[in-house]
Amino acid sequence: MLVLGIESSCDETGVALYDLKAGLIAHHLHTQMAMHAEYGGVVPELASRDHIRRVIPLTEACLAEVGKTLADVDAIAYTQGPGLGGALLVGASVANALAFGLNIPVIGVHHLEGHLLSPLLAEPRPDFPFIALLVSGGHTQLMAVRGIGQYEVLGETLDDAAGEAFDKTAKLLGLPYPGGPLLSKLAEEGDPARFSLPRPMLHSDNLDMSFSGLKTAVLTLSKQVEAEHGEIDEPTRKDICRAFQEAIVEVLVSKSLKALKQTGMKKLVVAGGVGANKQLRAALDQAALRRKLQVYYPPLALCTDNGAMIAFAGAMRLQYATAPGSYSIKPRWDLS
Ligand code: KG4
Ligand code: ZN
Repeated sequence: MLVLGIESSCDETGVALYDLKAGLIAHHLHTQMAMHAEYGGVVPELASRDHIRRVIPLTEACLAEVGKTLADVDAIAYTQGPGLGGALLVGASVANALAFGLNIPVIGVHHLEGHLLSPLLAEPRPDFPFIALLVSGGHTQLMAVRGIGQYEVLGETLDDAAGEAFDKTAKLLGLPYPGGPLLSKLAEEGDPARFSLPRPMLHSDNLDMSFSGLKTAVLTLSKQVEAEHGEIDEPTRKDICRAFQEAIVEVLVSKSLKALKQTGMKKLVVAGGVGANKQLRAALDQAALRRKLQVYYPPLALCTDNGAMIAFAGAMRLQYATAPGSYSIKPRWDLS
């Protein structure tokens, strides 16, 4: 059973082939980052147009890589939502048109379910149940995952997502788009002891989080440093980045441990773009080691948006696949 997966919810066009027996056999990705960089963020109309340009060549590249043709594909999975309406429509239209032409079933996948299940594409593969820390640009949630489709939100951010906090903070520090990964790189060279920022909701008695205040705290700190020492130099900027990262990582680690303790589960799965963050990974690994817990991550290349996670989630949910026909997208869509 070969599933073609198409991801087009935001600024990455991802296409992949997942085979139920052989696993992930091909995945290709085109990121629009450079195109959106000059605007300082994703421009939805440009995103949609670029998905149109890329999706077919990426599909052809996947098939060619493994010596297959469209005739070998048994089902097509696409990101149905949440995401940018126009961008989602491209993947949905192509998936449904191809499935219609090939007379094969098609399935709309929840983008977050894709992220959530992506650590299952790595070895060793975690068994259910587990806690998932989903940290992307649009979402930050802790979920109890008891099986495919059995997701319970235990806590979530009340305002900015963790990735959004990285990106917005990077922007106010004058870093070019996309700021998150760059901020994290600078933070690695920063001094963790020089500045200290608040840890929002660290001691709240629930699993909710809040990150928008952190960005404001960085702004206040930057202004303070500027007033005292003049323009912020490179080492100071690195120290501020480090202080921000220390705060956000401590909150994410603490809330994840709390979720594990609360449910009695022993496995944590980390998914979404912020899951690529080295300091977060190191802190989680260290905390897990001390408590005899296991932490699982997707392969680094599959942390951010990609077609592989959509092909995989589609393959896991094949029983919900339908004959192609009329279709809808869901720009806003809760997972549980
Ligand atoms: O999962 P993703 O590709 O897209 C969404 O579905 O949102 O996540 C993208 C987010 C961005 O906010 C980006 O800044 C963040 O993940 N990100 C990182 C790192 N790599 C990507 N944040 C912190 N450290 C990183 N290394
Ligand atoms: Zn995503």
